[in-house]
Parts: sequence; C-alpha cells; structure tokens
Amino acid sequence: MLKRAREIGNIIRNSKEIHIVSHIDADGITAGAIALQTLKRLGKEHSIEFVKQLDNQVLEKLGNENHELVWFTDLGSNISTNYSDINKIITDHHKCPKNSDYNFHLNPHLFGLDGSTEISGAGTTYLVSKTIDKNNMDLSSLAIVGACGDLQNRRYGKLHGLNRKILSDGEKIGVISSKMDIQFFGRETRPVYKLLQFSSDPLIPGISGRESSCISFLQETGIKMKDGDNWRRWVDLSKDERKKIISNISQILLTKGFGHKITKRIIGEIYILSQEKEGTELHDVKEYATLLNSTARYGQYDVGLEVCLGDRDKYLKEALNLLRGHRHNLVEGLRFAKEEGIFKRDYLQFFHAGTGIRDTIVGIVANMLLNSEETSNTLPLIGFADKGNNEVKASARATQELVDKGLDLSSAMRKAAKQLDGVGGGHNIAAGATIPKGKEEEFLDILEQEIKTQLSSSV
Ligand code: C5P
Ligand code: C5P
Ligand code: ZN
Repeated sequence: MLKRAREIGNIIRNSKEIHIVSHIDADGITAGAIALQTLKRLGKEHSIEFVKQLDNQVLEKLGNENHELVWFTDLGSNISTNYSDINKIITDHHKCPKNSDYNFHLNPHLFGLDGSTEISGAGTTYLVSKTIDKNNMDLSSLAIVGACGDLQNRRYGKLHGLNRKILSDGEKIGVISSKMDIQFFGRETRPVYKLLQFSSDPLIPGISGRESSCISFLQETGIKMKDGDNWRRWVDLSKDERKKIISNISQILLTKGFGHKITKRIIGEIYILSQEKEGTELHDVKEYATLLNSTARYGQYDVGLEVCLGDRDKYLKEALNLLRGHRHNLVEGLRFAKEEGIFKRDYLQFFHAGTGIRDTIVGIVANMLLNSEETSNTLPLIGFADKGNNEVKASARATQELVDKGLDLSSAMRKAAKQLDGVGGGHNIAAGATIPKGKEEEFLDILEQEIKTQLSSSV
C-alpha cells in the first residue's frame, strides 16, 4: 500500500492543477481537508467540491471541466475502471471490484485489508499525504477523526490495522493521545445525565432514552450532578465517580442478561486531539466527527472544511449552530421512524420515513435505531427516505454478528439497486443505495432474497 501511495504521490507532484472531489460525511470532509492541505503546502493550484454520491451527472460535469487531475477522496472506488477520459487518482476505502487495481487507486480492499475497520477514506488520503512530505504527519489527527466518524473503532473497541499506525504517527508528534474510557457520546460537552440518556451502543435498559431515570440513577449512585450553576460533564467527574457509574451500568446490563461481550463495549479506547481546548466539541475525536457531520450532511461543506483547516472563529461558530440543528433532527428522526413503524420480514426489517427524515441522515438514524429496543438485533435494518426527483434513498445497517455470519450489505444493496436501475454500495456492515420511487417493495423483495442467500451459503 505504501508503494501505491508513493506512486500516487508522484502523480500529484507531476501535476500543476488538481481538483478534489470528496464525500459529504465526516470521513469525506477530513479526507478532503487532508488532500487540500497537502496541495496547498505543495503550492499546487487546487479546488474542491463535495458530492452525495458519484453519479453520471457528477462524472459528466467533471469530464467537461477538463481538470488536469481529479483526486477522488472517500469515494470513487467504483469508477476506477470506467471514465478513462478523466485523469484521476483515488484514495478510498469502499468495496471495489478486483479488476480496479490500478496505480492511481489506493484502496485497502485491493490489498486484502478490510475497508470498514482498518483504514478510512481520510486514512488512505493521509498515507499519500505522508509519502509526499513527512511534515504532513500533523494531518494524522484528521485521519483519526475520519476513521472514528465512520465508526471504525467500534468493532474492537479501539482502532485497528493501519488506523493504529496512523494513530501512532499522531501520538509521536503530539497531536493525538488515547486512553481507555467510557464509549458514550459527549464525554467533554454534555451533562452526565444527558450522556447516559443518549447512550445507544450498548443500550442500557431502563436508562437510555429516559431522562428522569438517568437523574435518579446518578442520585442513587451518589454522583453530584451540578457544580454551582454548571452541569457536571463526564470529564469533570473524579476517577472514583466514573468507576462507580461504569460499575453500576455493567451491573444493570449483566443482571438483564446482556453478557460480558456486550457489557465490555461500554469501555474502549477514546481519542483526544491534544492541541484542541478541553471541554470543546473539537477535543474528543467522536464529538469532532459529529460536528463535521452537522455541516456537510446539510450542504454546508465549506463550514466543516474550514474548521478542519484550522478556523476557530466564524466557521466554528457556524458549525456549532448547525450542530444544534443536527441533534434536533436526529432526535426528531428517531421519534418519526418509531412512529411510522419498523416492519419485520424474515431476513430484514425496515422503516420508510418519506420526507420525514433527510436522505443524508437516514443512515445515522438507522444506525441509532439498530441499537434500540424497537428493532431486532438479529436482522439488518433498512431505512428509506425520499430524495426528491422521484428517487428514494435506502440506508442499510447491520451488526458485526451478522457480518460474521456472511452478510455483505454492500454487495446485496448494489445488486438489488442495479436490478431496478439504481446504484448502491458501501461496506459489509453499512451500505446505501438510490432507487426509483415506488420500487421500494420490489427492492426489499430482491434484497431479502440476496441476504437469505448470503446467510445460508456461508454456513
Ligand atoms: O461513506 P462511508 O464509508 O464514509 O461511511 C461508512 C458508514 O458505515 C458510516 O455511516 C458508518 O456509520 C457506518 N459503519 C457502521 N458500523 C461500523 C462501521 C461503519 O455503521 N462498524
Ligand atoms: O448513505 P449511507 O450512510 O447509508 O451509506 C452507507 C455507506 O454506503 C457509506 O459508506 C456510503 O458511502 C456507501 N454508499 C455507496 N453507494 C451508494 C450509497 C451509499 O457506496 N449509492
Ligand atoms: Zn468513509
């Protein structure tokens, strides 16, 4: 992979003008920011755009723009064999056909590695950046934000594979540090009772989603919730207080029969960006990733990008505004999907949000729902949302257990969408597709058959 990264680095060095095309989530924004910073430092003429997906429209436009070189980051793996009229390099981690192994395409899947856990789009982009100049090692922090934004730390409760090499780059030069701590979201910025209330992976029965139960749980555990007028956050608690909470939560999970494997998921490695201020949305990597998702998934790409490039003023303020909206939309989205109903079939479960949830966040809602009491944890979950233009977005999410049994959502979604003249792809554990509106039932039928075949042929 490093040899390929060097080859791509040379293509960059030999070009004068480079246009970056990246994806609209945290991994895509960080990947784009790493690419942009690399080109800036090299003094290359550069430009950047973010797209929801690489469809024919985008590709046609790019073809007409006649860029000297186009750098696809966190997307592009599926076009590597086509569109030879676009002079391109690709740093991606999505599943790709074997015959896409070209010197301009850096992708873990081409090297026998797993693109859903071992390295992200930002990570592959970082590898190229580092081969161009060792001074770009400071960008490892963004690569780790991207990896955690794609939940690559969840399978093992810590980063794994090449992601660990990137982490150690960051630790070496002092931009990142890691430690074991609670895995729930909002360690640095949320009142402790909120951190518990929004816990979803794992879900704590009787606590998650219930504000008053969280408050009484903390009272019973003997934790003071306020310090003067200020709500205490996880980072404000003493080591003993944290231990007590973790031990009481574990107790709840164990007595409810969740077993050690799930209970252990409460604790894992967490990542801190050492040069950011403590108690801000930028200090903890997971909170940083969510902040970026709040910008790009609402079309405000430049806001997230500028934050990644170092703005801590106007754009950061704007990002924090957007974060409030994003949180609100997620809470409303969850409520909406539950109200609409989650329907179970033999091999999958699904909900249809219509226009009630944005197509760009329906995947996040599906992910949160899969960890909730409303869904079965033995079936993959598909969420639909209208995209406009007579198209529907489908987002699929599964558990690691299903993937271990042979489920590959990327291939299932790609095949099912293709039969209906749509497009799909992604990772084995999480994939998406766009299909014509009105074809949802047909899509589910084909998808269910595909999933059934996958799960029965691997026994
Ligand atoms: O496009 P991209 O690769 O950036 O997105 C990866 C997606 O896979 C994210 O939406 C992430 O939430 C999902 N994922 C997941 N569980 C994992 C790994 C990734 O849901 N263990
Ligand atoms: O959009 P969503 O979060 O559901 O996407 C899950 C994963 O599937 C992401 O990695 C995304 O990039 C990928 N995907 C894809 N092709 C599509 C839609 C989504 O590769 N048409
Ligand atoms: Zn990605």
